[in-house]
Amino acid sequence: MAQEVRGVIAPGKDEPVRVETIVVPDPGPGEAVVRIQACGVCHTDLHYKQGGINDEFPFLLGHEAAGVVESVGAGVTDVAPGDFVILNWRAVCGQCRACLRGRPWYCFDTHNAEQRMTLTSTGQELSPALGIGAFAEKTLVAAGQCTKVDASVAPQVAGLLGCGVMAGIGAAINTGNVGRGDSVAVIGCGGVGDAAIAGSRLAGAARIIAVDIDDRKLAKAREMGATHTVNSRETDAVEAIRELTGGFGADVVIEAVGRPETYRQAFYARDLAGTVVLVGVPTPEMKLELPLLDVFGRGGALKSSWYGDCLPSRDFPMLIDLHLQGRLDLGAFVTETIQLDEVEKAFERMHEGDVLRSVVVL
Ligand code: APR
Ligand code: ZN
Ligand code: ZN
Repeated sequence: MAQEVRGVIAPGKDEPVRVETIVVPDPGPGEAVVRIQACGVCHTDLHYKQGGINDEFPFLLGHEAAGVVESVGAGVTDVAPGDFVILNWRAVCGQCRACLRGRPWYCFDTHNAEQRMTLTSTGQELSPALGIGAFAEKTLVAAGQCTKVDASVAPQVAGLLGCGVMAGIGAAINTGNVGRGDSVAVIGCGGVGDAAIAGSRLAGAARIIAVDIDDRKLAKAREMGATHTVNSRETDAVEAIRELTGGFGADVVIEAVGRPETYRQAFYARDLAGTVVLVGVPTPEMKLELPLLDVFGRGGALKSSWYGDCLPSRDFPMLIDLHLQGRLDLGAFVTETIQLDEVEKAFERMHEGDVLRSVVVL
């Protein structure tokens, strides 16, 4: 039987979000209903609310979540009721060209639940954020969006791997291929940049330079594993990174802001034949201008990292295991835990710059 639960709805462009009752259908073939235990507040949720992603209001927000599978539909074999899972927005199809050539982390045809959740009050269909919609007591997803991990991890920590923290760690270890002894610079030390720092440490980087314009962020970056910090409001970031790398530049520079000026810094702060990874998300009007001769002459690789080029089934359980072994402090990303009705307040706190992640705990 369909169930009624509470969820956080963005009703229209720039309108405050509110908790409403929603209808969650029973899982159909290939679907699962998950009882949400925790869900982090991400910038993408705010972008949905602001109408920056699309106009398909009302949205059911929330997508960095962990919980327990309550029920599954016909044909679901990978997860079962009672499994502790992290939700992902890359449920690989196994059939598309990317999947068939063995690169499922680029899957072009990831899927979501086919049935729609609706608003109890009006019957309107909801658009779940990133196909998840997890600021809710329960949500309906495709079974492939559920990745089973060790259940001994705290849900508020596990959920963060579902989006921003995975994007940052993956930018370093998957896209940037950071390895033992490398020098890495990370520009922008919010949740994503800090995760790139933690990922670089995990991968054995010898020197990790954190760059930000906010000293509070730099202090936190040090806790995450940065060996050096640069305040780029006071010091030229490119010169500082070169100085800290014997005059060469870093092997890998990770741009975690998403702006042309910080991308340019990343481009010039890497060593010859080094790698730039763009994981910060730009806005449509932004343009980048670079001398093409420098693009050619400096060689190396200019890469973008979508969702940290992660493969949830490979990366989530592995990172949770490393966390449980004390080798990756995922707990450090949780600044505060809040209730379902405090998401609007958490959006306001994002601007104050003292929060890495607010996490709704249910
Ligand atoms: N130079 C250096 N750092 C900057 C600059 C700049 N010009 N402008 C902003 N920053 C820093 C901020 O001080 C902050 O510490 O970048 C950081 C951005 O962090 P958050 O706002 O917390 O964002 P985060 O969640 O880390 O996401 C970063 O990745 O996934 C994308 O959409 C996301 O584009 C965003 C980026
Ligand atoms: Zn595919
Ligand atoms: Zn997100």
